[in-house]
Amino acid sequence: MSDESQLEARLEAQDEFEPPASFVEQANVTDEAIRERFEEEWPECWEAAAELLEWREGYDQVLDDSNPPFYEWFTGGELNASENCLDRHLADRGDEPAIEWVGEPPSEDNRTYTYAELHREVNEFAAALRDLGVEEDDVVTMYMPMIPELPVAMLACARIGAPHSVVFAGFSADALATRMESADSEYLVTANGYYRRGDPLDHFEKTRDGLDSVGHEVSDVVVVDRLGDDGFDHDRRENEHDYDALVADHEGAEVEPVARDAEDMLFLMYTSGTTGQPKGVKHTTGGYLSWVTWTSHAVLDVKPEDTYFCSADIGWITGHSYIVYGPLALGTTTMMYEGTPDYPDNDRLWEIVEDYDATQLYTAPTAIRAFMKWGEQYPEAHDLSSLRLLGTVGEPINPRAWKWYYKHVGNEECPVVDTWWQTETGGMMVTTLPGVDTMKPGSAGPPLPGVDARVVDAAGEEVNAGDAGYLTVQNPWPGMLRTLYQNDERFVQEYWAEYSDTDSDDSGDWVYFPEDGAKLDEDGYITVLGRVDDVLNVSGHRLGTMEIESAIVDVEGVAEAAVVGGDHEVKGEAVYAYVITEDGYDGGDDLRDRIVASVEDAIGPIARPESVVFTPELPKTRSGKIMRRLLEDIANGDDLGDTSTLRNPGVVDDIQAKVGGD
Ligand code: WT7
Repeated sequence: MSDESQLEARLEAQDEFEPPASFVEQANVTDEAIRERFEEEWPECWEAAAELLEWREGYDQVLDDSNPPFYEWFTGGELNASENCLDRHLADRGDEPAIEWVGEPPSEDNRTYTYAELHREVNEFAAALRDLGVEEDDVVTMYMPMIPELPVAMLACARIGAPHSVVFAGFSADALATRMESADSEYLVTANGYYRRGDPLDHFEKTRDGLDSVGHEVSDVVVVDRLGDDGFDHDRRENEHDYDALVADHEGAEVEPVARDAEDMLFLMYTSGTTGQPKGVKHTTGGYLSWVTWTSHAVLDVKPEDTYFCSADIGWITGHSYIVYGPLALGTTTMMYEGTPDYPDNDRLWEIVEDYDATQLYTAPTAIRAFMKWGEQYPEAHDLSSLRLLGTVGEPINPRAWKWYYKHVGNEECPVVDTWWQTETGGMMVTTLPGVDTMKPGSAGPPLPGVDARVVDAAGEEVNAGDAGYLTVQNPWPGMLRTLYQNDERFVQEYWAEYSDTDSDDSGDWVYFPEDGAKLDEDGYITVLGRVDDVLNVSGHRLGTMEIESAIVDVEGVAEAAVVGGDHEVKGEAVYAYVITEDGYDGGDDLRDRIVASVEDAIGPIARPESVVFTPELPKTRSGKIMRRLLEDIANGDDLGDTSTLRNPGVVDDIQAKVGGD
C-alpha cells in the first residue's frame, strides 16, 4: 500500500490549514497587520531587520535608490558579520552549542562547538589566513564538504573582510577552476575527503585537478584532514598547508573583527544561468546579514534556545543563509549533517532529529518525496515531538508531499513554510508567516511583509486572480544581490531588462525578474510554477542547460545536443539529452558513456543525464530554433499538440519512438 493512499481522506480534501494555536502562542511574529504596517513604513520598515544586528557605526540612510538598479542599503553603516555571529553571543551563550555536527559514519565522534569554541577557532584560523597573506577584499575560495571547518573558514574570512566564494564539493574540478578564475581567487580552503554512503571519498585528487587548470597562480591551499586513517596518499606541495597545523600555530590568537561598510561584499556565490558561464552573485555585509537574520527570526521562528536543523549543503545559498549566517546571528544552535539521509538507513534524519531534539527542520521537496517513497514507518519509528516548525525550499512542492510532511513528520502540530527565494535574493521572499498566515499546500503564500512581489503577464500588467504569469519583484529589498561579479551589464540584462524602463533613474520604473513562472489566487497567494528560462532544477539544484550542452558537444562524435528537463518522481526534474552524432559515429553505449563522463567532468554527478537519446535531427522551428518545449513533452510522454510549425515535423515520431523504447 503506498503512503499516498494512506493519507487520510480528511487531509486529502483539505486545502487550507490554520497555524496551530500552540505554535502561534509562542511565535516570534504574530502581528496580523504586519504587511500593512511594512507597506506604510517602507523602506524604513527594514530597520526592524537591521536592529537584529550589532553595528559598529550606525547607518545614515536605510535605502539609497538614487541609481537603480544599483541599490544600496543601510549606507554609512559599519559592521562585521563574524562579530555578529560570534562575539556578541559570548556573554550570554558562550557555553551553549553554536554548531552540532553529525558525521556520516554512525560510529563517528560527533562534534559540538560552543560559541566560545567556535569563536576561538575562527580567530585562530583568521590569524592563519592573514599570515598566509590574505588581505581585506581578497576572495578566498572554499571547496569543502559538510564539516565544521567550512563555517569556521567562512566566518574567519568575514572577520578579516575577505569575501568567500564557496564551491559545492560535489561540483567537478573544472567547475572549481572556472569559479576560481572568474573571481581571481588566489586562496583555497579544501579537505582531503569526506564520507559518502559509508565510503571515504578522495576530494583532494579532484581539488588538485581543478588547481592544475586554474589559469593564474594560486598562492596558498589549506587542506582539512577529514579522513584521518582513511585518507588517501598525496604528496604535499609547498603551498599546501595542513589546517590543523595552521590553527595550532595560531593557538589563542585574537583577531579584531574588521569594520566593514554595509555595502562591502560578504561573499560571492556562483550560480547557473542561461549561458554557459556561471554568474558570480555578489552579496553584501549589511543588507544580506540583516535579511537572513530577520527571515530566520520571522519565518523559521528561530530562538536562541532552539536546535535548528537545515539539511541543505553549505555549498548552496540555503546553507549560507540558513545554516550559517541567519541562525548564528540569532545565537541559536545550528545543526550540520555530513551525509545522505539514507545512510546507514532511511531514517537517518529522524534519528538526528530525535537524538538532538531538533526544533525546526528545513529541507527540500525532493527529500520529502524520497521520504514519502521510503514510507512513513521511518519517521514513525522516532520521537519527533521536539519539532515545532517545518520548512521547504528549492522547488515547487506538490500538495501531496506537503501533506505527508505535515502529517508524518509534523504530526499536524507544526506549521509548514514553503519558502520561495533564490541565490540572488539572498533569503526568503514569498512564504507564509508561520504565526500569522493560513497555509495552502502547494502555494508558497503571500510575499513577505515589505516585499512587493507580483505576478504579471508578458506586457508587465498584473494578472487576475486564478491566472498564471511571471513572478516579479517591484521594489528593492536589503538581501538582494548587488551585481554579478565584475559584470554590471549582465546584472542589468539578466534581472532587470525584461520589465524595467532601463533608461529611467526613478526606482519605481525598475522591476526585478527572477525568471520564474507563477500563478496568483484570490487571496494573493503565489504558486511558483518553475523556471521560464533554460535553467533546470534537479533535486533542488540549479543547472544551466547550456552548461550541460556544451559539455556534451565537447565529446568526440557529437555534432549537436539539446538538453531539457523531464518530470521525475523524486528529483522533480531530470536531465534529458537529445544528441545528434557526427557522420561515422554510432549512437551506442560507448558514446553514451563518454557523454555522461564529460558532463560529470564539466559540472559534477548532479548533472548526469537521466537519459541520452540519439536522434538524426532535432525538432526546429522554421527560423532554426530548437523546440525545447516539444522535447520536454516527449521526455514526459505528453501529448504534443500541433507540430505543424516545425521545419521538420517528421523527426518527432522518430524521437518519440526512441524515448518510448529507451
Ligand atoms: C530557483 C532558485 C532558494 C534556495 C535554493 C535554490 C526555485 C526555490 C522554491 C519554492 C517553487 C522554488 C525557483 C527559483 N525555487 N524555492 N519554494 N517553490 N520553486 O536556490 O539554486 O538559486 O534556485 O529555485 O525556480 O528561481 P537557487
